[in-house]
Amino acid sequence: MPDTRTTPTSATQTLADSLTIVDNRTGSRYKLPITDGTLRAADLRHIRVSEDDFGLMAYDPGLTNTASCRSGITRLDGERGVLEHRGYPIEQLAERSTYLEVAYLLVHGELPSSRQYEDWVEAVTHHTYVHENVKSFISGFRYDAHPMGILQASVAALSTFYPDSARLDDPDIVREQVVRIIAKMPTIAAFAYRHSRGLPYIYPDNDLTYTGNFLSMLWKFSEPSYAPDPRVERALDVLWILHADHEQNCSTSAVRSVGSSRVDPYSAIAAGIAALYGPLHGGANEAVIQMLRGIERPEAVPAFVAGVKRGDERLMGFGHRVYRNYDPRAAIIKKSTMDVLDATGGNPLLEVATELERIALEDDYFISRKLYPNVDFYSGLIYQALGIPAEMFTVMFAIPRASGWVAQWLEMQGDPEQKITRPRQVYVGAPRRDYVDFAHRTGDRP
Ligand code: CMC
Repeated sequence: MPDTRTTPTSATQTLADSLTIVDNRTGSRYKLPITDGTLRAADLRHIRVSEDDFGLMAYDPGLTNTASCRSGITRLDGERGVLEHRGYPIEQLAERSTYLEVAYLLVHGELPSSRQYEDWVEAVTHHTYVHENVKSFISGFRYDAHPMGILQASVAALSTFYPDSARLDDPDIVREQVVRIIAKMPTIAAFAYRHSRGLPYIYPDNDLTYTGNFLSMLWKFSEPSYAPDPRVERALDVLWILHADHEQNCSTSAVRSVGSSRVDPYSAIAAGIAALYGPLHGGANEAVIQMLRGIERPEAVPAFVAGVKRGDERLMGFGHRVYRNYDPRAAIIKKSTMDVLDATGGNPLLEVATELERIALEDDYFISRKLYPNVDFYSGLIYQALGIPAEMFTVMFAIPRASGWVAQWLEMQGDPEQKITRPRQVYVGAPRRDYVDFAHRTGDRP
């Protein structure tokens, strides 16, 4: 006899805010509440075939359709090509703000007053130096160590320099670590680069801006002080605004997942760096440069596009899992690329890139599949124009993403609904069996 079981609903919920499920195995009907367009996966557990049944689970490899948190930091509407941080459109932030102000906004939820901004910039500037021992262990890496490996290991190691960072119950201590992480990322990144070149490390110059100081730590030689080109400094600032946060992507989810164990923030951020290191996440900008180099000349673009349409290759820097429209960051980066190339004297690959974009955007293959340039289509060209080698591209992404990671980590710490991340599985292995001694095992194992 079919019955209707209702999972708990809040007082304000109506029938319209619910989903009725009929379990054809038993004939039972279930009414599950819908909140903010989501079902609670735990509510599925009420759907059982018997008392001792564990209950229904959601199966979602890659979490492609699972909201893992409620977040007030970044809103992304992929269909409309919208990206907002704390409600502010990315276009306005890129045009009128600075990276450090956006970092403040992400972390604190509001734009700072001018006094708060000054204090924030001063605090970050004050923490740019790293302990001398950090220099020593970076020196211990092989001369050809990948800078992302150095960055990841060094950020994780910072927890050993600040053991009180494990005190997540003390807001002042937590705030200090947040500032330290944002402040020290450029320093460690620049040291990693100088190490790979066999060059002496350059200490931070606290008279410079956040990006100007980074450029100084990368490029300074014997001059008493480095004077960054303001156009390059600003272009880098814009690039870092654009990369600061992008809601629940792979690396942010890694930070939240590792952070859910209540480990210190350096260890959680190091997990984010590890996730970003992967070629499916942070590495596409490097692939774009390789693609443009392969095409070589604007005249060769039609043949390349024909190859993409035949399925011989991918148009790197195009398409996105979430954006089915122009990635709003790509439009802004394109403009920055022109500014940087103006300042640094051009890049022959730019012509190839603009021709490629023009042809692809007019072609039905890309139009019908909603494939538009993404953030990585032009960013590699900027980095290349700045003289930054390809293996540093992902590091350049990690530096600003640190502010998004810490903001998301902080939000998670304060969210009473969050628990340690612990997904379920569908077990498909061997059934229970008894241990067999060597003498009685047969055949070679694969
Ligand atoms: N070039 C050619 N065809 C493409 C491309 C591309 N870049 N991207 C997607 N397609 C095709 C795909 O083959 C499929 O065609 P069909 O329907 O005929 O089989 C169709 O478009 C739909 O693609 P999809 O499989 O739904 O795309 P996805 O969501 O699985 O993949 C992506 C998204 C970003 C992995 C993919 O677009 C891609 O590989 N792009 C190139 C790499 C790249 O630029 N990555 C950087 C992403 S932005 C980084 C960030 O935001 O952090």
